[in-house]
Amino acid sequence: MRFFSKHYRLLKCLPSLLTVGATIPGMLSASTPESSSLKPVLDTDSRLSWWQEARFGIFIHWGLYAIPGRGEWMQWNEQIPNEEYARLADQFHPEQFDAVAWAKLFKEAGARYSVLTSRHHDGFALFSDPGNPFTSVTTAAHRDFVAEYVKAVRAAGLRVGLYYSPLDWRFPGYICPNIQLASAEAMRAQYHHQIEELLSNYGQIDVLWFDGGERDWLNFGGDWKGAAWEKRPREAHYQGRFDWQHDRVYARLRQLQPSILINGRADMAEDFHSREGDRAMGEFDNTHAWELCATIAEGPWGYKPDAAVKSLGNLVHLLVGAAGRDGNFLLNIGPRPDGAVEPAVAQRLREMGEWLRKNGESIYGTRGGPDLPGDYGVSTHRGNVVYLHVLQWPGEKLTLPAGVSVKVVRVARLDGGAVSFVQNEQGLELRVTSGACDAIDTIIKLELDRPAEEIPADLKLGK
Ligand code: GLC
Repeated sequence: MRFFSKHYRLLKCLPSLLTVGATIPGMLSASTPESSSLKPVLDTDSRLSWWQEARFGIFIHWGLYAIPGRGEWMQWNEQIPNEEYARLADQFHPEQFDAVAWAKLFKEAGARYSVLTSRHHDGFALFSDPGNPFTSVTTAAHRDFVAEYVKAVRAAGLRVGLYYSPLDWRFPGYICPNIQLASAEAMRAQYHHQIEELLSNYGQIDVLWFDGGERDWLNFGGDWKGAAWEKRPREAHYQGRFDWQHDRVYARLRQLQPSILINGRADMAEDFHSREGDRAMGEFDNTHAWELCATIAEGPWGYKPDAAVKSLGNLVHLLVGAAGRDGNFLLNIGPRPDGAVEPAVAQRLREMGEWLRKNGESIYGTRGGPDLPGDYGVSTHRGNVVYLHVLQWPGEKLTLPAGVSVKVVRVARLDGGAVSFVQNEQGLELRVTSGACDAIDTIIKLELDRPAEEIPADLKLGK
């Protein structure tokens, strides 16, 4: 199996540590910044500790685009004029919107935080922005949904996050910032001012989730070559006249909300990195905080009627896959235009919660590793305990090869089922009664003779 060879490669550098025992190569980070000297760089920042412990959040894409139900990119994809798109605001009076019900549902799902699109690329703000006619407060709904959301989520004991897109399709300056410089500057003024509003008027905001603020997205991620527009290669950068002045926003947001966490989509020093979509799980990384975001249903992030909801197994594997690679999972829902969450989506969220109520000790407050992700699945750990998440049994037994001198003192299945183990020169061999493995995730709890964090720093993974 793939992970065996990875282990051996890592372990070969440390011959003195190779003794009889199960392979528990080096997970180095502690669950709290104080408890170990072997922490990844960003762990020195205590702002991240609640977020890393939380592991699971809910993302909400909700706005005018929920009405036609063709996704949050509808205006752009269908090239709808601003004036026509803006008329959707006349129909946006979501009678079923109940932030308390949302927060209750997120809690039932086992989430510890949530992130709401306060304003997406279409420019429609779900918050009060005096002087701006394109908000939910100044149009048909006459409600400040951000205020209602923040209050309810906070009251439910969850951490509060807001998504914000500096880019706004209504400004030609985004599409063509050099020629339309004044428009780009007006868009920038809106961005700076709206961040000020969001971070001043709603109490503590725990996460600000930027999207579309990267300099390289300007000119729509390309350049004009005479009459032709060409997508800019990854290694090339926007060289034009316009500058978002993100440094000012950065200084201000740290001043207004000293403990806020930000992702990296606005060219600012990020607290955590965003990986996007089911296929973006990527590699193990315990040196830099990261979060995988993915949708609960097939299709866009915003509401689409009858979108097929992904299976519980699929979603649990995304959560567990992220935790085992030392990342968070932000699961997106697109509520209906009336504000309600589709029953099939709500049901899946509750199933996630049920799964987490049974198995949450192997997710919350753990760190990824020490075993690198392999064909069998992943591992997480806390203190002396390592949780092996066996997502796919290789046969009737699972063998972890011999590694560092860690003794496994006890082995148990988290669901109480039977598991036997042998630890010898070959490593650790685990068996469950055939047919008794869990269809989604068989979690095996290994108790070590010492904390997993004590495994030497030289074995640091994920570089
Ligand atoms: C992509 C989509 C955007 C969505 C975001 C969430 O950037 O274009 O609509 O909000 O993913 O990560």
